[in-house]
Amino acid sequence: MSTSPLLKIENLRTYFYSRAKQAFIRSVDGVDLEVNKGDTLGIVGESGSGKSVTMLSIMGLIAARPGIISGEVWYQGEKRINLLDGLKDHLNVTEENGRVMGIEKEDAQWQRRLEANMEGIRGKEIAMIFQNPKSAMNPFFTIGHQIVENIIKHTPYKAREEAKDRALYWLDRVKIDSPKLRFFNHPYGLSGGMCQRAMIAMALSSEAKLLIADEPTTGLDATIQSRIADLLEELREQTGVTIVIISHDMGVIGRLSNKIAVMYGGRVMESGPSAAVIDHSDGKSHPYTEALLKSIPKEDNLSTQGHLNSIDGEVLDTINVPKGCRFATRCQRINKSIEERCKSEEPPLADVSTGHKIRCWLYAD
Ligand SMILES: Nc1ncnc2c1ncn2[C@@H]1O[C@H](COP(=O)(O)OP(=O)(O)OP(=O)(O)O)[C@@H](O)[C@H]1O
Ligand code: SF4
Ligand SMILES: [Mg+2]
Repeated sequence: MSTSPLLKIENLRTYFYSRAKQAFIRSVDGVDLEVNKGDTLGIVGESGSGKSVTMLSIMGLIAARPGIISGEVWYQGEKRINLLDGLKDHLNVTEENGRVMGIEKEDAQWQRRLEANMEGIRGKEIAMIFQNPKSAMNPFFTIGHQIVENIIKHTPYKAREEAKDRALYWLDRVKIDSPKLRFFNHPYGLSGGMCQRAMIAMALSSEAKLLIADEPTTGLDATIQSRIADLLEELREQTGVTIVIISHDMGVIGRLSNKIAVMYGGRVMESGPSAAVIDHSDGKSHPYTEALLKSIPKEDNLSTQGHLNSIDGEVLDTINVPKGCRFATRCQRINKSIEERCKSEEPPLADVSTGHKIRCWLYAD
């Protein structure tokens, strides 16, 4: 069995510039992640922890400046390629004591290089399902038209009639009612749940190997949320597609994912098999993950739904990242023997058991 990851993110950093604060917001600040073929990786973390920006960076869909400033995103398609290849040639980053002081970017060349790297990848190899499908689809065209165009662009089905049959096949696969009628609907003519199904059909229709779903069930009512989660689970089983799913709903994450990554302040704090991260099967857990899991209201059952609430303390300000552990000001497990270290030195993301990594001095040695 091949062990090379389908996607390997190394030290990804995506910053934005805040004019108001005249400083860089370090939205993604050294993310390392791996997704193996056939895995469903769930990404969790409080609001603002950098989950969406990480995924948008992979897709090259960061519009605001300066955007992606460093790192590597290795994608294993027919050959292994770095989706960020050559971008650093068009950037000049000035740092002082680990703090970014200035970024000069040759915007046009940088963007051209990014688009060249993404050619044949975005939409074809890697497809994305967004939280709000109505704004992600073109309001002026029918969903049928949009799916047909996607199929013609990305698959061997080039003849329009053939692509239309294939579009109907996908609309049927996502269990949209009356696919032949829905084919002629515009996105605004569909309910939220139906539109999300159409978006999933569109993403799958390119027969992408990696599906990125950013909050695919948020904003839908509870019954529809659960049906969309059922659908994703079923499609994953049937098609074997690799999935990265971001959700605030631990019920959805727990059900769909075999691996989980926990983000905080633009960094991955813990990653590993779901059993280790959620159920602490090896007896090890990051204090932040523990606090997140405790924030789920008791009446919510993790296997059905489990919405993450906020935890005590202020969310990290990624403009002024502290020297030590990012979670130090909120950590409940800091103890005398490691306190100094927690405040002065950032822990590495260290292996604590097979495939399980934790960024915490409690486990670093
Ligand atoms: N275009 C942008 N310009 C400036 N700051 C941005 C931009 N996009 C995101 N950010 C900031 O980057 C940080 C990470 O944002 P991101 O959207 O990735 O968070 P998230 O983990 O997906 O949160 P949520 O769970 O609320 O969706 C936030 O502080 C956000 O305000
Ligand atoms: S390194 Fe220290 S402050 Fe950070 S999570 Fe671990 S114990 Fe808490
Ligand atoms: Mg988000």
